[in-house]
Formats: sequence, C-alpha cells, structure tokens
Amino acid sequence: MTQTGRDRTNNAKLLAWVDEIVALCKPDKVHWVDGSQAENDALCELMVKGGTFIRLNPEKHPNSYLARSHPSDVARVEERTYICSKTKEEAGPTNNWMAPDEMRKVMKGVFDGCMRGRTMYVIPFSMGPLGSPIAKIGIEITDSPYVVVNMRIMTRMGQAVLDVLGADGFFIPCVHSVGAPLAPGQQDVPWPCAPDISNKYIVHYPETYEIWSYGSGYGGNALLGKKCLALRIASCMARDEGWLAEHMLILGLESPQGEKTYVAAAFPSACGKTNLAMIVPPNGFEGWKALTVGDDIAWIKPQPDGTLRAINPEAGFFGVAPGTSYDSNPMAMETLKPGNSIYTNVVLTDDGDVWWEGKGPAPAHGIDWKGNDWTPESGTPGAHPNARFTAPAAQCPTIDPKWEDPAGVPISAFIFGGRLSKNFPLVYEAFDWNYGVFMAATMGSEATAAAIGQAAIRRDPFAMLPFAGYNMADYWTHWLSMANKGVKLPTIFRTNWFRKDENGKFIWPGYGQNMRVLKWIVDRVNGKVGAVESPLGLMPRYEDITWAGLDFSKDKYQHIMDISREGAMSEAKEIKEYFATFGNRLPAALETERQKLEKRAEQAPAVWSIASAA
Ligand code: GTP
Ligand code: SPV
Ligand code: MN
Repeated sequence: MTQTGRDRTNNAKLLAWVDEIVALCKPDKVHWVDGSQAENDALCELMVKGGTFIRLNPEKHPNSYLARSHPSDVARVEERTYICSKTKEEAGPTNNWMAPDEMRKVMKGVFDGCMRGRTMYVIPFSMGPLGSPIAKIGIEITDSPYVVVNMRIMTRMGQAVLDVLGADGFFIPCVHSVGAPLAPGQQDVPWPCAPDISNKYIVHYPETYEIWSYGSGYGGNALLGKKCLALRIASCMARDEGWLAEHMLILGLESPQGEKTYVAAAFPSACGKTNLAMIVPPNGFEGWKALTVGDDIAWIKPQPDGTLRAINPEAGFFGVAPGTSYDSNPMAMETLKPGNSIYTNVVLTDDGDVWWEGKGPAPAHGIDWKGNDWTPESGTPGAHPNARFTAPAAQCPTIDPKWEDPAGVPISAFIFGGRLSKNFPLVYEAFDWNYGVFMAATMGSEATAAAIGQAAIRRDPFAMLPFAGYNMADYWTHWLSMANKGVKLPTIFRTNWFRKDENGKFIWPGYGQNMRVLKWIVDRVNGKVGAVESPLGLMPRYEDITWAGLDFSKDKYQHIMDISREGAMSEAKEIKEYFATFGNRLPAALETERQKLEKRAEQAPAVWSIASAA
C-alpha cells in the first residue's frame, strides 16, 4: 500500500490531481490499486469482515460474493444526473443542467472531508483493450472497495494501465464517494453505499472531460468507466472526433456457409441487450453461430477502408439478474458458472447459493435482497427487480474470437428496439439512412427497474436518453452526418419483442427465437431476401422468415405486424410536439422524415396488414 503513488507513476498531472483530491476528501489512507489477484482477494476479505460482502458457497460459486445495497440505492438516478456544459443549451432539453462554476462549488462542499475515516482508492483503468489506439484511460478515485472489485471485472485496470499512461499520457479524471464521512471510531456501514443519502450527484463536465459522483454505490452511478465515461463523456469526444459512442450490444452471426455478419443493437436499459448479445440459435438454425462482442456499450469508428468498426470498451457484464435462467439466457448462466462474479441484491439461499425471480424453482427459504427471511409465500420479490451480476466477459462461452481486437468488427446493421406492449410491429427496416435516424430518434419505450422514477412510457432516442452527454438534437445531427464520412452505411432496423395480447401475455416468444428476426436482418443486408413496403418501413412477409422448429402461425404473425392508421397518424402528430421541444436545433431532415411518415399514414388503410401486402 502506498501513500503518494510516486513509486507507481511519474505522470506529474496525475500525481498533482490525486494530491488535490486527497486534500479535499481527507481520507485516512490512500491505496493505489495494482489490479492483482492478491489485492482483490484482500479487498474481498476486508468486505466480508465488514459485512458488505457475503462469500458464496465456493463449490457452487468459486471466488464469488453477494452484496446488498441500501434499499434506496438500487438503480441509476436520472434526476440527480447532471451535464454541466457551459450553457444549458449545449446540454439540451433532455438533460439536467447546472452551470459548471456553480456545480464546482457544490462539489467542493459535498466532497470536503467526505472520505474521513475511510481509505481512498486510486483505480487506473482502460476502456478498450489496453494500449489500443482507440482505448481511453480513466482514473477513478473512490472510497468504496465494492467499486474497486467491480471495476476490476468491468474494465482492464491496475498497474498495467499506469505503465501505458506513462509520464504525460491523457486520462479522464473520475471522483467517486459514497458520501457520509465517518465520525471518529464510527464503523463503516456494511452496504456498498452510505445510508439513505438524498443529495446524490452524478456530475459530468463535458468541456473538460471530468466526472464527479457522490452518494451512490450503484453500478451506473459508481462504476464511472461505464455510463459516465464510456457514454456521456465519450459521446462528446465522439462528436468532436467524428465517431459514435453508443448504448449498444455487438453480436456476430455466422451462417452455416461461414459468412460472418456483425450487428449492433440499441435497446433501452433492461430491454434485452444482454440477452440478445448471448443468443443461442434455436432449433431450426443448425449450423448457425452467434458470437458475443459486447452487451451494453459500443464505440464505433469510420475506417479508411469504408467500414464502420465497433469495439466493446468494457471487459465484463453488469447484467440484470431477474429473468436470467438456463431457459432464457443459458450463456449468461454459463458465464457465471466458473465464479469470479459479484451479485448485488439477489436472494441468498441456505446453502450459500444465489436465487432470483425467473431463475428456476424457488428455494423453500432464503434471505431476500433487504436481508430479511424470505420464502416463496412472503408475497414480495426475493431479489430486487434491478438486481445485477458482475461477471468477466472472457468467461462467456460464446465470446467472439475478435472481441478484444483493437481494430474492432465491421457493423452491417443497426437495430433499435423499445419495449412497447401495444401497436408496434415485430420488425421493420428503414427506407434509407435519414429515415433510419428518424426511427431511432423517435423510439418509445416503457419504464423498467433500471432507473428510479421513470415515466410509464417515454421517448428514449437511440436508447441514449439518459446517456447522451450533449444536446440530443445535436446528437441526431451527428448521426445524420455519418452519411458524409465515406463509409458504407449499415442498414437500420427497428424491433419490438414486447407486444402483448388481450390477456397481457407476450405474443412473441422472444429470447432465442429472436434469431428468426436476426436471420432476416442478416439476409437483408446480404441481399438474400425480399421485403414489402408498409407505412412504417420495409417488412418481412411470413414466408421471408425461417419458421422451422417453432410453431408460430401465420395469423399470429400477421397480428404482430399489423399497423393501425390511427396509431401511425397520432404517432406522427406526437412526434411533431416532441420535436418542437428541441427548437431550432432540430435537424430539418428529421422533420422532413416526419412529414413523409404522416403522408404514408394518411394514405394507409385503417389497418394495414402484411397479409394484404403479400
Ligand atoms: P441493461 O443492462 O439495463 O442495459 O439491460 P439490457 O438491455 O441488457 O436487458 P437484459 O437483456 O438484461 O433484459 C432485461 C429484461 O428483459 C430481463 O428480465 C429479460 O428476461 C427480459 N427480456 C430480454 N429479452 C427478452 C425477449 O426477447 N422477450 C421478453 N419478453 N423479455 C425479454
Ligand atoms: C443500464 O441501466 O443501462 C445498465 C446498468 O446497463 S447501469 O450500469 O447502471 O447503467
Ligand atoms: Mn445498459
């Protein structure tokens, strides 16, 4: 353990910054994280002793732990997340804003002495393969050992990063504290976050590329490499440098003939990215392979050879536990099997195993996510709906051989999918790039447990509503401008796995069966299958989809592909109001696309049916 870091790095800027944060936060000790297994084990042991971690049964889950958060600290807090650009206009109408000078004063106040009684950890980390030209280095300072061990799974971290950084390398400074300094002699709280802090702040300074996070230990609020750096700050860098930082999974699909096609897909939080990234081709798809590159974030860059190539900047999965099972997502279960994983807010069983809703048969008795005795008769969920696992990506059996290739993988299709139980078809394709950007910009989705206090249904453009680090309208302009980068543009698709019937049941079987939709998408971009024109876009006829191995009738299919004229018309009208909130920053091309949609809707039959189009 070192106090000054001078024996660990000669980066003068880093050393000076750490000194400055030490002076502000006043920790008892400073620990420069080296990333070793021994250090990790010691930190886990420390947390077991302190009550933050419970060691799971090593026979079932080697080197794995359970953590329970404070009941108020279970998800991202969008209303406490700020983009502090120079002007409010630059943050745009979809972000919370405060003037940087004003916010700096607030931060100085809350961080002053906030680490008293605790150890301050300095975590050097790399988003993207270490030393790769597209990777970005961050340094996270935190007083949470839970954050340290999670960051070790989610990023490449430790001494090797300082070695790559060198004497004058660039890094993104990230400061995190769980808040609530300890009084002399006071024991730390067992949970990853201090109790019930209402003045949480998740703060980004996009002009200076800095992150400050206070009062939460939850993933997206505290593991600052993830949403804060790799999306909010990186989206600003991407705008400035001509690339894309996106809330997307990356998936490789290999046909029986060995042809490989990569797709990137953006779904809002808790809407199916991890599941699709680890899809197992179902019966009827013998010879097909699906390979995982990433499950949450993609950095995508135009290349001189005319391709758009994507890398996964992360090294682990921070996945939604509830609903994950050998039936729904067997590859996630296999990823967890070797252990080396952290579980947050799930049920602890009496034999030291973990359980959550949707995993399989419930244990007769366990301890729920709040630490109380629990049985299936308790009448409350045992796991929090946003309970998560943290697991190394390298343990995923379907990880793509190219997942760490610094050159990235070439993307042929972008898929955008919301969670919409009514009125929205299974899949369709954009007529062209501008309409595709319009489709993504206007995507709607229903609330999930991944963020606290979400509206029941809201527009979540590009699944980036909580993650764009600048004005959303400028972000759309940036996407439109990708048409001028000299690359072959991927085809854009929209999907919806979540349409429900009159009884509130999902009509589409989803999960592995989504492969049927993916195959149509792959065949479309490779020019192998047809489509018909609908008011919303190009659609597969029943016979364009491979049905072998699934009993899904033509009637049911037609039902989930129906488009109501009234629905499409009111959508076009609502989008007009939505666009108005962006004022004159709205790119004109998107309003043009809106008017074209309105025209097509007007001319459509009361119910447009794929049956009549075929
Ligand atoms: P974040 O990590 O929050 O970004 O979420 P994500 O987009 O990776 O979502 P994930 O794959 O973890 O899925 C979230 C929830 O949606 C889980 O409860 C899944 O079981 C459920 N889900 C995923 N795919 C499907 C599907 O095809 N159909 C249905 N009905 N549910 C699905
Ligand atoms: C999401 O909410 O989109 C997540 C989890 O992937 S978090 O890391 O909290 O952002
Ligand atoms: Mn996510």
